[in-house]
Amino acid sequence: MGKLAGKVAVVTGASKGIGAAIAKAFAAEGAAVVVNYASSKAGADAVAAAIGKSGGKAVAVRADVSKADQAKSLIDTAVKTFGRLDVLVNNSGVYAFSPIEAVTEDQYRKMFDTNVLGVLLTTQAAVEHLGAGGSVINISSAVTSLLPPQSAIYTGTKGAVDAITGVLAAELGPRKIRVNAINPGVVETEGTQSAGITGSEFESGIVAQTPLGRTGQPDDIAGVAVFLASDDARWLTGEKVTASGGLR
Ligand SMILES: NC(=O)c1ccc[n+]([C@@H]2O[C@H](COP(=O)([O-])OP(=O)(O)OC[C@H]3O[C@@H](n4cnc5c(N)ncnc54)[C@H](OP(=O)(O)O)[C@@H]3O)[C@@H](O)[C@H]2O)c1
Repeated sequence: MGKLAGKVAVVTGASKGIGAAIAKAFAAEGAAVVVNYASSKAGADAVAAAIGKSGGKAVAVRADVSKADQAKSLIDTAVKTFGRLDVLVNNSGVYAFSPIEAVTEDQYRKMFDTNVLGVLLTTQAAVEHLGAGGSVINISSAVTSLLPPQSAIYTGTKGAVDAITGVLAAELGPRKIRVNAINPGVVETEGTQSAGITGSEFESGIVAQTPLGRTGQPDDIAGVAVFLASDDARWLTGEKVTASGGLR
């Protein structure tokens, strides 16, 4: 029996990248999965179809997590479709890098709305359905300890996610709901491709400093998410799991 058999999970931003890998890994361990996306319907449908083809259960649901009504309807759809909710992975995120001189209000609002407000709104919608044994997993980033130059807004958002993870672990612990974060190093995804990170000098610099000597792949993160969602992690809450091949 899979490690997540009988559980229902919502994975935000699962049309591609890390979220898609987590959705597939959850389904392979027996969870029914809601594959959320904002605009990439084809990507989300393909992830849900691949899960179905492998004998799993999944449905693709559009919702902008930074909008309260959409975050709520995402969670309501999950409960309506699969009857319960056990795991929420707050993975949706956007990133862009620029020196402080080039920071704009628009960049600030886009990144904070998606990466921070989205986590708050989706978790708020989910908590009424998560019972004892429920698990929230926030995809933060290793940038919160690496503090790379030209990432003031993005690192600011993920610093907030780390803090929110700790607060909600304390707040929801008495209800036996666990809240943990995964802090990946550079992971090759559609997002890092379009941000110009994949293949860049920045990436080779990161690899040179990484003890395991490569960049991450989405599946490297998905395995950690399966662990945190499973009962194997029943005694972990408020943790930040750095998944970076040893890069510190
Ligand atoms: N890749 C890395 O190196 C890395 C490292 C550390 C942390 N992370 C974090 O890991 C997460 C995933 O990153 P990734 O590289 O896999 O990104 P990605 O390939 O760009 O995928 C981002 C996902 O987020 C979704 N999304 C964006 N805005 C959304 C919104 N407002 N509402 C709902 N969904 C939204 C996208 O959906 P659509 O396609 O439909 O827009 C997509 O599914 C992010 O939180 C990121 O900060 C990534």
